[in-house]
Amino acid sequence: ANITVNLEDSKSISDKMIGVFFEDINYAADGGLYAELVQNRGFEYSPDDKKGRDPNWNSFYAWHLIGEHAVFSIDTVNPVHPNNPHYAVLRIEKPGALLSNEGFNGIALKAGENYDFSMFARSTTDKKIKVFVRLTDPDGNVVGQTTVNVRSSKWKKISAVIRSEKDLDNGRLELVPQSAGSINLDMVSLFPQNTFKGRKNGLRADLAQLIADINPKFVRFPGGCVAHGDGLDNIYRWKNTIGPLEVRKPQRNIWNYHQSMGLGFYEYFQFCEDIGAEPIPIVAAGVPCQNSSCGGAGQQGGIPLSDMDAYIQDILDLIEWANGDKKTKWGRIRAEAGHPEPFNLKYLGIGNEDLISHVFEERFRLIYNAVKEKYPDIVVIGTVGPFSEGSDYERGWEFAKEIGLPMVDEHYYQPPGWFIHNQDFYDKYDRSGPKVYLGEYAAHLPGRPQNIETALAEALYLTALERNGDVVVMASYAPLLAKESNTQWNPDLIYFNNSEVKPTVGYYIQKLFGQNSGNLYYFSDVNLSDERESVRKRFAVSVVRDGVSNDLIVKMVNLLPAKIEVHLKINGLDEFSSKASCIILAGHPDDTNARPQEKEITVSNNFDHLLPAYSFTVIRIPEI
Ligand code: AHR
Repeated sequence: ANITVNLEDSKSISDKMIGVFFEDINYAADGGLYAELVQNRGFEYSPDDKKGRDPNWNSFYAWHLIGEHAVFSIDTVNPVHPNNPHYAVLRIEKPGALLSNEGFNGIALKAGENYDFSMFARSTTDKKIKVFVRLTDPDGNVVGQTTVNVRSSKWKKISAVIRSEKDLDNGRLELVPQSAGSINLDMVSLFPQNTFKGRKNGLRADLAQLIADINPKFVRFPGGCVAHGDGLDNIYRWKNTIGPLEVRKPQRNIWNYHQSMGLGFYEYFQFCEDIGAEPIPIVAAGVPCQNSSCGGAGQQGGIPLSDMDAYIQDILDLIEWANGDKKTKWGRIRAEAGHPEPFNLKYLGIGNEDLISHVFEERFRLIYNAVKEKYPDIVVIGTVGPFSEGSDYERGWEFAKEIGLPMVDEHYYQPPGWFIHNQDFYDKYDRSGPKVYLGEYAAHLPGRPQNIETALAEALYLTALERNGDVVVMASYAPLLAKESNTQWNPDLIYFNNSEVKPTVGYYIQKLFGQNSGNLYYFSDVNLSDERESVRKRFAVSVVRDGVSNDLIVKMVNLLPAKIEVHLKINGLDEFSSKASCIILAGHPDDTNARPQEKEITVSNNFDHLLPAYSFTVIRIPEI
């Protein structure tokens, strides 16, 4: 192939192209990114969290009373906070019994590391009760221990630090009262001190680091379907997710489990700041899910119009909470939570894959107009739903144009062939209309594996997004995280269990694009020795410049079964010869374990390079 890059022929493109979509699906939050190790710490699990009600999924879930002469029950009288009404009652007739928490299928512990233990407790028998707090293996062998005293008859937070002496995948937390009496317990918590950036109430360091390594320019959260829920009472309300953990309001997760809200809006915004990404919170457009995709019951009502003012106020308050100074009501609440400086929110997503019904449009307009009036600088991102036959995509676009939306969120999950054959999808888009945020996409094969075939189809498509980076300003693969054995949706970018992280081949495509993005796109001429369309569409080139480092970045995708000798000519520069880094991701189409390999090469204005069959190559030429 002959590739001629014309440095005189360029256009500005978005410098925010690659980001991530975090949804609390597949145990992505509790039991996942949120580093809390105790499951059901607030005793708030409820049979109603599960579709069809599961009687075993209740306040006792993940907790076990072991031993005799003790009773473990649940009460709601005079709780720590009304938002968190259930708590445990432990009545000990004779010491010996213990209360054990199994974590999220076990607690992963590391030898030599410290863990922050805390709980709210009160003694209801008018005496001090000493409690051993232990880290154990499933057989009860102790690998770490401390002692706390429950002496107050009023709720009191008790904290301690425990060191683990051993590595364990399957540990337990045990509370062992040392005298007879009765105690009440709530918000029983165990956190590694080694969280991402050492934040309290923080994130699992290994998972957060993998996300940070993508160099995402934005994070969309908390969904997806989680954002709008499957009924009015299931809409995600950001105000329920901030403040002290014991006052946050847990909620049924639409994906059939429980959201403690320990990972709430403060933590999402903090994470964005920690990794240099723009926060993109998504709020419901005044309607819950109306599609079948997240269990919505089809056409159904939205928030009653008489309640919309209050709902809209919540959204305006979110912007004030994120951006207001300490003198504003909500800015002060953010400052008191530990973040005096504004978070500098620039984007707000309204809606997710909604039916573009009258009910939706009416409520969307109200929210949009209110945000536009009070915060004209906030870029509102609307939704046009999933692109597929019979979807509301067309009407979504009409509506977006009618009301002059700055940006819309598109979603599509399609076979690799669709991505290969639709690389011109955005070439035809109106440059004067709303910009595009491609909020969810993935190449789907039967059984939803992620392999070199899907990853390269996504890479081909990403080169087309870069070419259209004047109209497509952001893109995020979906969803980000999935816990093994708790996965409701495939494919996902990173799989994990309690102690391991397992990035997919597609993860490396996102990372290579995220780390090698630019803000200037150069057009190039490509001549292949075989110009048949089936060949042409399986080969792509994208050349960008990173305006910060001034590096020139050449990406090439070869989805053909044969290697390609490329002759690359760069027009518009004085003669040069330079070292460059070259990263290659290659493998058989069904390879799920391919990993990028890096080497140094020498490049010049005219150089030859061999692209392996089924490969993605990034050549980064410094400062030319
Ligand atoms: O990514 C999983 C789900 O797919 C999201 O919640 C929804 O937006 C889409 O249908």
